[in-house]
Amino acid sequence: MKGNNNKTENQLLVIFGATGDLNKRKLMPSLYALDVLNLLPEKLAIVGSGRTVLTDEEFRHSMIVAIREFSKEKDLSKVEAFASRLFYQTVNPSKVDDFQILNKRLESLREQLEIGSQNIIFYLSTPPSLYEIIPQGLAAAGLNNEEKGWKRLIVEKPFGYDLEGAEKLNTSLQKNWNEEQIFRIDHYLGKETVQNVMVTRFSNGIFEPLWNRNFIHHVEITSAENFGVGQRGGYYEGSGALRDMVQNHLLQLVSLIAMEPPASIDANAIRNETVKVLQSLRPISEDKVGSVAIRGQYVESQIQGAHIKGYREEAGVDPASKTETFAALKFYIDNWRWGGVPFYIRTGKHLPTKVTEAVIHFKPTPHHLFAQKGSCDTCNQLIIRIQPDEGILIRFAMKTPGAGFRVENVSMDFHYSDLSNVRIPDAYERLLLDSMTGDSTLYARIDAVMAAWKFIAPIQNAWKNNPEIPVYGYPAGSWGPDVADNLIEEPEMTWRHPCAALTSDENFCKL
Ligand code: BG6
Repeated sequence: MKGNNNKTENQLLVIFGATGDLNKRKLMPSLYALDVLNLLPEKLAIVGSGRTVLTDEEFRHSMIVAIREFSKEKDLSKVEAFASRLFYQTVNPSKVDDFQILNKRLESLREQLEIGSQNIIFYLSTPPSLYEIIPQGLAAAGLNNEEKGWKRLIVEKPFGYDLEGAEKLNTSLQKNWNEEQIFRIDHYLGKETVQNVMVTRFSNGIFEPLWNRNFIHHVEITSAENFGVGQRGGYYEGSGALRDMVQNHLLQLVSLIAMEPPASIDANAIRNETVKVLQSLRPISEDKVGSVAIRGQYVESQIQGAHIKGYREEAGVDPASKTETFAALKFYIDNWRWGGVPFYIRTGKHLPTKVTEAVIHFKPTPHHLFAQKGSCDTCNQLIIRIQPDEGILIRFAMKTPGAGFRVENVSMDFHYSDLSNVRIPDAYERLLLDSMTGDSTLYARIDAVMAAWKFIAPIQNAWKNNPEIPVYGYPAGSWGPDVADNLIEEPEMTWRHPCAALTSDENFCKL
């Protein structure tokens, strides 16, 4: 993994919610991967924390088990050595004294391991209900004080449940922590292929001149999953696809696709440009929501002979739930580059395959000289595949060999998997390393988070307050409600139906 020239200083990393799923599945395997790559600070103590009472040894053991289960590293021979960097401290967030005890423990670890300065990251991998109380407890124990070393706070999503909630959370955090100390995670920004959007656009002379309203017909972004909410029904009921995926991951992706070139790759220069996109999203008025935002919910179906439960039958879900598991939107970005270009985004659970991609549809030639095989108004497409089969594909028209001028669409593609020596790191590896070096480029700044909530707010309100806006049922395993197709109003144009493999030929999809 490259991209970070900052020296990683000695430090402590405290993970709240250390017995939880995110820590086991993502954080520990990512920290282990960084260790294997020799990217961790020379002196580092990783302190797991939570209400559960555990010894260091018990914590180490359960993390070794988790890394063995979830790590994608081939070499697991260093897991025990890695685990020697792990410690555990019980903290009940509602007990003020526990933060003092934590402070003392960190101090003694710092001395014992000769860490030197008091640089500490606090990672909130907990339920969102603790996002105010833990930072307050830390501050009350003086653990936000930067006199003898920096202090950083990583906050997982969701950052609030709506505009007001996000404002309230931010006000609470900023009483004790300044913006430079707060790192808001959106794990999509840590994905290699999401970062590659900027590199593709700004390090090639051939795309940028076409990247505007004069040449682009529309932009389509899909993030599909081929599974349901599983054990997360309780969480998902209070969230839904709009909050879970659109407000954060998809709008961040939109901002990278639509941003102006930054003057440098400095964190603020980049974030100044991405926020402008979010601030330029044309507001959708509540009375228009029904026609430009479609919500759906998967219903029971059979997939390859297996019975799939509907969302309302999932554990933790209200049998009369109106929570959307599918959302599709049409919107515009009101600025000079994008004036009049529709953006279509959709996401959903239990769609036919797991895939995230952005498709840039270019305008057709002004005059059709040749008879084209099949109807095609926007033949030229650039497909940026975020996952899986990460890569890029360009579609264009070519002459079919033989008499006359028959024209067919072909494609040129690049797949990261062709680079056999390249391993795509997990998003959390990059984000954890960046937080250790203090690089906030790939973390969401508060103005961007607020701009995204502001855009989403009327949709949330309309869906909440207006029962006449239907929640369309769609069979699990389908591409969502048919009515979502009508969002794309152009005749003979519809959403792409991507496969797991990056290919322009949707007929060859093996789902
Ligand atoms: C999370 C959502 O933020 O992103 C999940 O809460 C979703 O519901 C996940 O499954 C998707 O992430 P990825 O990296 O698998 O596309």
